[in-house]
Parts: sequence; C-alpha cells; structure tokens
Amino acid sequence: MAGAWRILERDSVGSTNDEARALAQAGDPGRVAVVARRQTAGRGRLGRPWVSEPGGLYLSALLRPALPAARAGLLPLAAGVAVAEAAERLGARPELRWPNDVLVGGRKLAGVLCEARFAPGAAALEWVVIGVGLNVQQRGPTLLAAGGTSLAQLGIATDPAALRGPLLARLDAAVAQAQGSPDTLLAAWMRRSPMLGKPVQVMTHAGPVGGSAERVSSEGALIVRTTDGLREIHDPDLVRVEL
Ligand code: BTN
Repeated sequence: MAGAWRILERDSVGSTNDEARALAQAGDPGRVAVVARRQTAGRGRLGRPWVSEPGGLYLSALLRPALPAARAGLLPLAAGVAVAEAAERLGARPELRWPNDVLVGGRKLAGVLCEARFAPGAAALEWVVIGVGLNVQQRGPTLLAAGGTSLAQLGIATDPAALRGPLLARLDAAVAQAQGSPDTLLAAWMRRSPMLGKPVQVMTHAGPVGGSAERVSSEGALIVRTTDGLREIHDPDLVRVEL
C-alpha cells in the first residue's frame, strides 16, 4: 500500500506546479502535494493563465510512478478521472473532455496541467507533477465570463481543504490503474466523456485538428478521424521538462 502524502501548504505562490517541479529537481522522493490559497501566476494548458483567486483548490502533486514513458499520456486522463470522482462524491455530475478538462453543463469546473520529466535517453518516467485547479467556492462574474463554474455555483457547499484528501486518494487509485490495468482507467474516462463519436476541434501546438473523436488509445492519445484519415493526438502539454 502506498504511503501517506505530505501536504505543503502555502498562502500565495506564483504557481504550485513550479513549486512542485522545484521539489522534483531538488530530489524530493515524491508523494508530496503543494497547495496554495491563491496563485499569482497560475498556468493553464497551451500557455494560458489560470486565474487563481482564494476559494479554489490549487494543488500540484509530485509523483515518481514506475511507468513506461509510452504510457505517460495516461496520467492526464487519470487526473481527470480522479477530479471527477472527487466531485461526484459531493453530488456533482461532471463530464470529461480530452485530455483532462472537467466540465459541468459545458462549463469548466476544473483543469489539470501535467508536467513530466523522463530519464535521459530512457524509456521510463522520472517524475510527474499533476497540477489541479478546481473551482470550489468562487462565485461571480469573472468565473462565469470565462466559461467556468464552481461547486458553490452548483449548490455544493464545501471548502478547498476538504477536497485534498479525497482527491489524492482517487489520484493514487487512478495512477495505479495507469500502471497496471489501463483498460479500467480508459473505461472510467470514456464513461464520463460525451465527446467520443462527435465532431471535435482539438487545439495542438501545431494548430487545430478537426474531425470526429473516435476513441482514446491505450497510451492516452485521442484518435480523431479527419478528412486525411486517423490522427493520433498526444497531450501537447505533457511536456518533457529539460534540466
Ligand atoms: C487548464 O488549462 O485547464 C489547466 C489548468 C491547471 C491549473 C492548475 S492550478 C494548480 C496548478 N498550478 C498551476 O500553475 N496550474 C495548475
């Protein structure tokens, strides 16, 4: 059984992902989560900012899971499933959009930003930072104007600190599935995703790719049927961190 998580609580940081990356690079053994009450330079996918006012959960988990590099694309899906399950426990009914957006009624409840380092020239993952931004108590026009929602907006009263434990426990379970039985993880992800079989436009660093979302591969890639045939799209933000 995996050991306990260490939680490092911060009041205000630039980005909890940056803090967790610094720990990784300093040799921290992992199973540590950095949480902050607010972030001044929260980062989202595709270089977008992540507005991080008090009231949200801003958590970055550092893990060193034994995982072949080819399967690293399953980690963003694992994170999405973990966040969805933690929200479901409170009565929310989130949907997942590849690779790891958590939506309710088409509005974004949470986002995940995974950053990983692979051992030089090796086929294995060295560490991964799984950053989760979950809208908990925020209300108000900024969130709504940005297409977001929050647990409070959905009528669910809780606070960010109460969500950490359940989220990390589900993250442990989902990462274990990525390591052992990806079919179970993929089924959990696909069960919550209405996008499969539908027309999609996926943003990649090379530009948008349009077509029909067919399925998610055993490596976590989205398979899209385009006019030029099947395209396999990997999460552009699961970046290889170079030291
Ligand atoms: C997205 O664009 O949907 C991903 C958002 C990820 C935001 C979280 S908040 C905690 C962690 N720290 C960051 O700077 N980003 C992630």
